[in-house]
Amino acid sequence: MNTPVAKRHAVLQAGRAMPELEAVLAERYDVSILASQPDPARFLSENGKKFEAMVSTSKNGADGALMDALPNVKAIAHFGVGYDTVDAVAAAKRGIVVSNTPDVLNDCVADTAIGLLIDTARGLSASERFVRRGDWLKGQFPLQTRVSGKKLGIVGLGRIGQTIAKRALGFDMEIHYHSRKPVAGSPFVHEPSLVKLAQWCDFLMIIVAGGPATKHLVSKEVIEALGPRSFLINVSRGTVVDEAALVDALQNKRIAGAGLDVFEDEPRVPEALFKLDNVVLYPHLASGTKETRQAMADLVLANLKSWFDTGKLLTPVPETR
Ligand code: NAP
Ligand code: 8YV
Repeated sequence: MNTPVAKRHAVLQAGRAMPELEAVLAERYDVSILASQPDPARFLSENGKKFEAMVSTSKNGADGALMDALPNVKAIAHFGVGYDTVDAVAAAKRGIVVSNTPDVLNDCVADTAIGLLIDTARGLSASERFVRRGDWLKGQFPLQTRVSGKKLGIVGLGRIGQTIAKRALGFDMEIHYHSRKPVAGSPFVHEPSLVKLAQWCDFLMIIVAGGPATKHLVSKEVIEALGPRSFLINVSRGTVVDEAALVDALQNKRIAGAGLDVFEDEPRVPEALFKLDNVVLYPHLASGTKETRQAMADLVLANLKSWFDTGKLLTPVPETR
């Protein structure tokens, strides 16, 4: 006797995701991957109506046009805390709720931020290349910059910014921060002017949200305000920094150095940076540990399950709450 098979919910995956997430999605739902279709536009016009929810990533997000092609999608579960590739305002207008993956990645992103800061100041990667080249046989690597006790300016004292601050206190750093409004109860000094924060600090740590509101927030003027003895670390989004101005400042040593996890046009990194020893380059891996990426995947799955079971997402983004 044939047991009837329960109809599975149809979920559209915008692009490829980590294999562990894809495997569970495929087990639980009737999944299609839009980016893998030979003709995505045709696929959407023929199949768009069948999908009830969508999974997006920082590479494959969702704009208003895609949402219009998916008239029955009322929930988008985004893989990542930053959802700048999902138009959350367009979603809200269409009655679509969007979730992201907050908090589960705070520790790993903060660890990377401090790692990049120390590498940049102490020249860990550059001196490692020096040893491998055999240059130690010819002379000493130059003296580097002290980290402990220095001034840290944090741009964006949100969940991750505060986790970075906790670690920086372990290095006896003095902390000021910039954001649109002061954080209630924070022991750190709020600096409304980003230029003044850059003038004050030894290290400018960027961990704000991405998207149009913060595009080139770290402008040429802010970069120049750092001066030749200070460093810039970016673990937020490449779009937040005027990358051309940063490359020029690094090439001409108008700032001391930079540690970069994110770039304006990933995975393309300005080639001019490859020749420079005063910059540490990391391929957008701040949250990239097996443990944290699994926790992010679990939260995407929990959001989808909650949506189908209760009609509510667990971690909706503010615009669609
Ligand atoms: P969050 O808790 O929402 O914190 C965001 C902070 O940015 C808040 O302090 C906010 O304060 C500030 N901010 C937002 N817009 C601003 C503006 N226009 N000017 C100045 N400050 C502004 O977010 P989170 O969880 O800490 O994550 C922060 C970002 O890190 C994410 O959005 C993502 O882009 C990035 N990220 C990157 C990686 C990576 O792999 N490199 C991993 C995770 C996250 P106000 O609202 O008061 O301005
Ligand atoms: C991931 C991120 O690298 O959460 C974010 O905002 O940038 C990272 O955790 C990214 O989402 C992977 O696609």
